[in-house]
Amino acid sequence: MEVVIQPGAALAELAAEAIIRLLERKPDAVLGLATGSSPLPIYRELIERYQDGQADFSGAAAFTLDEYVGIDPDHPQRYRNVIDDEFTKHVNFRPEAVHGPDGNAADLALACQSYEEAIKAAGGVDLQILGIGTDGHIAFNEPGSSLASRTRLKSLTPQTRMDNARFFDGNVDRVPRHCLTQGLATIMSARHIVLIATGRGKAEAVHQMVEGAVSAMWPASILQMHPHVTVLVDDGAAGRLQLADYYRQAYEHKPDWQRI
Ligand code: GLP
Repeated sequence: MEVVIQPGAALAELAAEAIIRLLERKPDAVLGLATGSSPLPIYRELIERYQDGQADFSGAAAFTLDEYVGIDPDHPQRYRNVIDDEFTKHVNFRPEAVHGPDGNAADLALACQSYEEAIKAAGGVDLQILGIGTDGHIAFNEPGSSLASRTRLKSLTPQTRMDNARFFDGNVDRVPRHCLTQGLATIMSARHIVLIATGRGKAEAVHQMVEGAVSAMWPASILQMHPHVTVLVDDGAAGRLQLADYYRQAYEHKPDWQRI
């Protein structure tokens, strides 16, 4: 794992830069997109770079991580709508190239299986953007998730429903109880994973992910088993890292050619 500790704006630039370089090398790259507030500065940076003619998504495809079950298709918090509003509709993705799990499918198990197959058929995810929940979840893989899980139905924890109530008029009862989510093994199949976390509230989850034992109690800790993970954190989210000084030094002295 590479841990990069920088101010928030610099983190978004680094992630956007990695995506733009990927698209230059591989115009039909497959991007994994995350919802939540953490990746928003990355999307804003990519939109700006697109408007400046520096990024082209016309050949690319995108897969979102997760979706609420049973949410109204027009609800602004349906993740497929969130990703369009925050990012994809502002750049030149082909509309049919942006995919999300279908939380309104009559057969949810089949929808999960079809989603796995669609990712595989697209050639797998080249670069996956991730956020992290305060309890260490990635996508909606809550504590206790199988480290070998694939896309499936999950129940949200009370903590996650409370965290997300802010998107539902502050009313936790309006937050759906179930979701479809890529599994931990699905996420682990991506070739490069870029996780962004900012603010003190994420410090414990980041510490457990990077420096704790690999455990279903902190689902993001599975990323320790991935050969190419970049963890982008600001000072707040890095606040509990035991080896923070080492990560800072390593990044400062990193050879230019190596990039993230
Ligand atoms: C939700 C999403 C996750 C996201 C997490 C953190 O639960 N399913 O993908 O990482 O929220 O969100 P935020 O970045 O807003 O803290």
